Amino acid sequence: QKEGFRFFMEKEIYEQSEVLSDTLIGRLAEDAILFDELNPSLLEGINEIKLCACGTSYHAALASSYLFERLGKIRTSVEIASELRYKEPLLCTDTLFVVISQSGETADTLETLKMAKAAGLKTLVVCNVDNSSMVREADAAILTRAGIEKGVASTKAFATQMAVLWMFSLYVAQTKDTIDAETLRKQIGLLREVPAVVRVHDDLHERIRRLSKRYLHGHGFFFIGRDIFFPLALEGALKLKEISYLHAEGYPSGEMKHGPIALADPELFTIALMPKNLLYDKTKSNVEELSARDATICAISDVPFEKADDFIPIAAHDHYMLEFFETMVVLQLLSMEIAIRLGNDVDMPRNLAKSVTVE
Ligand code: F6R
Repeated sequence: QKEGFRFFMEKEIYEQSEVLSDTLIGRLAEDAILFDELNPSLLEGINEIKLCACGTSYHAALASSYLFERLGKIRTSVEIASELRYKEPLLCTDTLFVVISQSGETADTLETLKMAKAAGLKTLVVCNVDNSSMVREADAAILTRAGIEKGVASTKAFATQMAVLWMFSLYVAQTKDTIDAETLRKQIGLLREVPAVVRVHDDLHERIRRLSKRYLHGHGFFFIGRDIFFPLALEGALKLKEISYLHAEGYPSGEMKHGPIALADPELFTIALMPKNLLYDKTKSNVEELSARDATICAISDVPFEKADDFIPIAAHDHYMLEFFETMVVLQLLSMEIAIRLGNDVDMPRNLAKSVTVE
């Protein structure tokens, strides 16, 4: 059932446009976000959101926390489930506890959900599997509608989690009346563009396939970005680690000078996320510092960057969330093409299971 694709992961990357349309359908009115599955009282008395997850779902949590504060205007914190469980957290009942999980079965995430419920918090799960343990346990659920994800490395599930969390951040603002009608309409317009933005074009894929051969060796990768592109950098690095078995780290661009830049040399591969609509000049100067120390730079941007050794162009968008989704696709394709060149089974990477139901 790979339908001509080499791996399920590849098929799932190509499916993202379609599943994102499914995720958005019925949830976007002209001037409002609609979540018919939610009881309007869910946000009553809520002053804070706590997001909790593992792995790729944790990266979706971290990325969306920027949106919850910026658009939703609500205080937001993010937790790794396996950490939260044992840190004896102070949980307050004015906090909405949101778990994010593709499978709905991840043991640590499920346990934090039970813990939050026991502490009297309202709970919401963003999940891809209806009738999963988390969907049954939580007070409310929003399904991501990505369809079955077979590749162990999560792609389309992450994409749909991001779309749902972005919509939910707007839903919070709309419910609390902290967003003006024009901004909300504009955001809804952007959401509608996402399915087209993630469509994979042959020339982009071919360009990534060709340049991937330069990134098979060396002593490691840094994926760097700022703001919401920092969690995306973490996710890019995780994808590469999982399926290529190469060492990769995600880092905030502005933190490189606080230590990691000591590693810079031609064998250090830097994948630089440089969207023009979000702190471009700041990121650019961080990347120039790395380039000056001879790091090999692969820039992903909608603005040409001469200091890059390799350049992967994304389309010129006028909002950073569209740049976010297109950059996500580039990172998925890049890690997949590197792993395929290394001869790995990208659908079934060594040592990994699709659903982690043990602690
Ligand atoms: C990475 C990946 C894992 C999962 C993590 C949580 O590609 O798939 O990191 O994201 O195990 O799984 P869920 O989302 O099912 O709770």
